[in-house]
Amino acid sequence: MTKTIYLVAAARPNFMKIAPIYHHLKIQEWASPHIIHTGQHYDINMSDSFFRDLNLPEPYINLGIGSGTHAEQTGRVMIEFEKLLIRERPDLVIVVGDVNSTMACTIAATKLGVKVGHLEAGLRSFDRNMPEEINRIVTDSLVDILWTPSVDGNANLQNEGIDASKIELVGNIMIDSLEMVRDKIDQEEIIYKLGLDRTDYAVVTLHRPSNVDNKETLQNICRMLSRTSKKMKIVFPIHPRTKKQIEKFNLQDTINSNGLIQIDPLNYISFMNLVSNAKMLITDSGGIQEETTYLGIPCLTLRENTERPVTVEQGTNTLCNTETVEEQITNVISGQYKTGKNPEFWDGHTADRLGASIERFLFNQ
Ligand code: UD1
Repeated sequence: MTKTIYLVAAARPNFMKIAPIYHHLKIQEWASPHIIHTGQHYDINMSDSFFRDLNLPEPYINLGIGSGTHAEQTGRVMIEFEKLLIRERPDLVIVVGDVNSTMACTIAATKLGVKVGHLEAGLRSFDRNMPEEINRIVTDSLVDILWTPSVDGNANLQNEGIDASKIELVGNIMIDSLEMVRDKIDQEEIIYKLGLDRTDYAVVTLHRPSNVDNKETLQNICRMLSRTSKKMKIVFPIHPRTKKQIEKFNLQDTINSNGLIQIDPLNYISFMNLVSNAKMLITDSGGIQEETTYLGIPCLTLRENTERPVTVEQGTNTLCNTETVEEQITNVISGQYKTGKNPEFWDGHTADRLGASIERFLFNQ
């Protein structure tokens, strides 16, 4: 009997997480995967271009919820997703990551008795000022099956009292996406279009409210970037939230520097081409901490904590602030930065393990 499986995607980092499992399920005779886009991200370069790069079909349904406050976004997703669930009642809903839509869809489905699985379960920053931490805790406390990317995830979930029988370590799905389109990433020519030489530039991404929503913090970061751009070229694809904040706080002049190339957010393949040829990343993204560990590229993360500690303990990631980051930049430039290794199961085969787990879950329960 074919099982209908909803794959929920909402915001930029979700698309790389559903793509490998969509392609895996699509060729299983027991599965009928449907992509549900909540519409949290809607710009072409924040959403559509990822579907194209990752060979995904148009979403089965786009709930079109758009931007808003946390409660507005969460509420709208719950209302629209609940209508769909009542109409169609899938056999399983899979949510990924930690965005508002992840939590909203989990609550709506669980309350209707629809089974839910969480991919990328168990990550914890232990910082409840992060909206994503709330989303992770609520989601993990409700779902029926939890797929973790690394062993720390299993430990966190068991510490919260979640039954070990519901938890399965499957590995990091983002690495599957990267390997799936690796040839295209390697053939892409964005770095030459931007006038850059391989391993001779840094890439910066910033979008966390803790870095961009406070004027003084953002100003300090902009000044640090401006100083760094005198030592090494920097490419800065600017997230829409960050762009708005730079304009609001009048910081355009602070980051206007010859060595700092400001561009719009990039599609996945171009962005990964930029990352894989970079000397280093300066970021506050979650996914980039993982991708750089896999690629062995230094990653300086402008955050006080991370929900992905294996990237610091085993990989190439270092947590920094605007003061300590400059010392680390010097270490990278002088070749004295640490090297890392890959965590277990970050191997491009997570979708196979996940697919087998979904089949067991749906047919043996
Ligand atoms: C969201 C996620 C965050 C994730 C990030 C990746 C939550 C709480 N946050 O943060 O975990 O790391 O996505 O990018 O779910 N905007 C556009 N075009 C778009 C989307 C957003 O212009 O396509 C602008 C809007 O002004 C919006 C702002 O960006 O208000 C922020 O978008 P939002 O989805 O609320 O949060 P992100 O900061 O993107």
